[in-house]
Formats: sequence, C-alpha cells, structure tokens
Amino acid sequence: MSETIEKFDKHIMHTYGRLPIVIEKGSGDEAVDENSKHYIDFGSGIGTNSLGYCNDKWAEAVCNQVHSVQHTSNYFYTKVQADFAEKLCDLTGYSTVFFGNSGAEANECAIKMARKYSFDKYGKGRHTIVTLVNSFHGRTLATLAATGQEVFHNYFFPFPEGFVATPANDIDALKKLISEDNTICAVMFEFVQGEGGVIPLEQNFVNEIFALCAEKDILTVADEVQTGLGRTGAILTSVRYGVKPDITTLAKGIAGGIPMGACLAGEKCADVLSKGTHGSTFGGNPIACAGGNVVLDTVSADGFCDEINRKGYYLVKKMLDIPEVESVDGMGLMIGVRLKTKKAADILSSAAEKGLLILTAKDKLRFLPPLTITYEDIDKGVEILEELLN
Ligand SMILES: Cc1ncc(COP(=O)(O)O)c(C=O)c1O
Repeated sequence: MSETIEKFDKHIMHTYGRLPIVIEKGSGDEAVDENSKHYIDFGSGIGTNSLGYCNDKWAEAVCNQVHSVQHTSNYFYTKVQADFAEKLCDLTGYSTVFFGNSGAEANECAIKMARKYSFDKYGKGRHTIVTLVNSFHGRTLATLAATGQEVFHNYFFPFPEGFVATPANDIDALKKLISEDNTICAVMFEFVQGEGGVIPLEQNFVNEIFALCAEKDILTVADEVQTGLGRTGAILTSVRYGVKPDITTLAKGIAGGIPMGACLAGEKCADVLSKGTHGSTFGGNPIACAGGNVVLDTVSADGFCDEINRKGYYLVKKMLDIPEVESVDGMGLMIGVRLKTKKAADILSSAAEKGLLILTAKDKLRFLPPLTITYEDIDKGVEILEELLN
C-alpha cells in the first residue's frame, strides 16, 4: 500500500470514503497520481478548481501574493481584498460582502444576518429559517440544522433551534407554513440541490418563494455555494431564474481551489452586520482574494458563461446517447446522471481505474468539471463512461 495512504489511515480521522489514489499534481483538466497515472477530472475537487489545476494566470497571481503579503488580520486593509470585493459586488449586483473560508461559514453568516435583520426591525421571536427537504447547507451545527436531510442529523443532537424544512416544489406546503408561522425571518434554498442529487427547483416554486416572502418582509437566502460563479452557466443561478435574493452565499469555486466563502447582501441587509457582530480570522485572506480575482476575471469575460452552457449541453447530449443512462439533470456544467441498472458508487471506482475522476450525489453520477474543460477531454471522459456503462 502507498506510504501516503498508510499515514492517512493512521493519523487522519476516517470521516471520508476515499478512493486509493494519491494526487500528486495536475494541469488543466488532468490530475496525475503518485504513480504518474493521468486522470481526466470531472469533479474538480467538488467544483472548487473552477479554472482546472494550476491555471497559469491564477497560479501567477497566487504566487505573487504569497511573495508580498500572505495574511493580515481584518484589523487592517489590503488592496487585494478591496479589489476582489468590488469586483464581486459589481459582477453580482450585491451591495456588500462578508468573507469567510467555506460554504458552511458563508451560510452561518447568512443565518445570523437574516436573524439580526428581523430582530433589528421587529424585535425578538422572528427567527425561524425555512429550508427545503433534501437540501444541503454544511456541516456546522447550525448549517446541519438547516440541512433538510435526516441522514446528516444522526448523533449530533441537540441542534440550534429555529429551522424548519418544507418539501421542495410544494407551493401549497410553503404557503401554509408561511401563513401559519409568524416566527419566520427567511427562506433559504439551493436553486439546484447539489448534494441532494442535482435537482433544479421548478421555476413556479421559485417565483412563489419570492412572492410570498415579499408580502411578509421575509428574506430570501440563496445558497449558491455549489451553483455560483459560472457553474450553472451564469454568474449566479438566480439570474437564470430571473430573481434577486436578499442574500446569496458562495464558496467552492470562488477562489479557484483556495478556501474561501462569501456572503453577499443586497440593499436590505447591506449594513445589518455591524461592528463586532461577526468575524473570521482568515476571512478575505489575501492569497484567496488574489486567486478569486483571476476566477472573477475569467468567468466574467465575454462569452465565457455561454461556452459553459455549450459544453454542458454537449456533455449531456453525449451522456443521453448511452443506453444505460436513464436521465440527466442539471444546468451548465453541474450535471447529475441517473443510471438504469448500474450503481453510481460502483462506476465511481471503475471510472477512476480507467483514468476518469467523477463524483456521485445520492444515487446519481455527478459531474462538476473545471469550467475551462476542453471538448477533447469531455470526449475522452465520456468514452471511458461509455465503455463502463455499455
Ligand atoms: C449547497 C452547499 N452549501 C454548503 C456547502 C458546505 O460547504 P463547505 O463544505 O465549504 O462548508 C456545500 C458543500 O457541499 C454545498 O453544496
């Protein structure tokens, strides 16, 4: 067995089911393991390496930053954080941003912001966050409480109070909940449930969330940790749905593979989190911001998101030509594939043996390739899948 894997087994908590592959380096869409075996990567570190492995411009910006200032506390200013925040707000149409280090932290910030907005305006007691059944919002206690999947709730009771899950796409259930419960301050949702199986929300349901929330000054909170910044073929998936949430959270691909989370606030919430009410030692770290600047420049370049959509259609069409494929869901380069007879988990390991890294979500295959993936590598990846599935 690999020495690296032995060390992992001995010293690192066994919270993940890992494939026995030690990734040593990567370039573009390809990862290389310690035995020099090459893999096309349809997972990109769960959507984090948005520009692929070691993109030249990204690597240069990150290395330059490492050689100037790697970190300073948030008691000081850095130009790179200012530039990144300005770019992010301009691009997304939000007023202000809070930086953390992960999706869970971005969502924690959103939850705190929604509760404080309501407290400031209406006083105590209006604190409930409505989430959706089958959602995923993170692994901290509050974001687990927000996560509408019982399977994640085992062992860790008691959870923070004030979360209630309603079924996705069930307008009547949402209407009933909002009309009967006057403690609600926000509705939080993913436009495409990622960990839940790559399931896009129906447009009517999204419209209804926004209409019902507007009537009662309930905040809309979009968790775009997985779907944001190009993944679904738009800067934000909310644009595809034609809505503007009060709060949007981002993480995963935002800094191209360096830990970062962001909680964006529109006009209503821009100044809700005042001095001393929230913080994060590493939040807005200069290296992450330097990487993030290149991600934003790339994703916002003319035609880049259109190309994501074209590549997504291309990949979906190819998958639909495989007889074992029952259906394909998703948007842009966030794709879930339901198989007719084979188990997604079995395909994960056999694909890796043949040189293709993929993900699963529930019982589906899941693809979150780099946004820069080439058509040639899409072809190569699908060829491997065809061989395994036929
Ligand atoms: C929609 C969504 N929200 C939040 C999270 C949590 O992000 P992190 O693991 O960076 O805390 C994830 C992670 O998969 C996610 O997909």
